[in-house]
Amino acid sequence: MFLCNCHGIRASQVEAARDAGCRTVRALFERMADAPPCCGKCIPEIRAALERQTMSAAAAE
Ligand code: FES
Repeated sequence: MFLCNCHGIRASQVEAARDAGCRTVRALFERMADAPPCCGKCIPEIRAALERQTMSAAAAE
């Protein structure tokens, strides 16, 4: 499933980046795309995916 259709970024790629320590949408686009978000429609969903890990990690501690 694509989270960002403009840059072809898949949910699995966001999860992998998150697991590797990526915590912000900006950092994710720096890793995954050669340009910043263009339409921005994906930003809330990507942010939520990045925060899910943060919350899970916090709960585990
Ligand atoms: S869907 Fe990600 S920038 Fe458009």
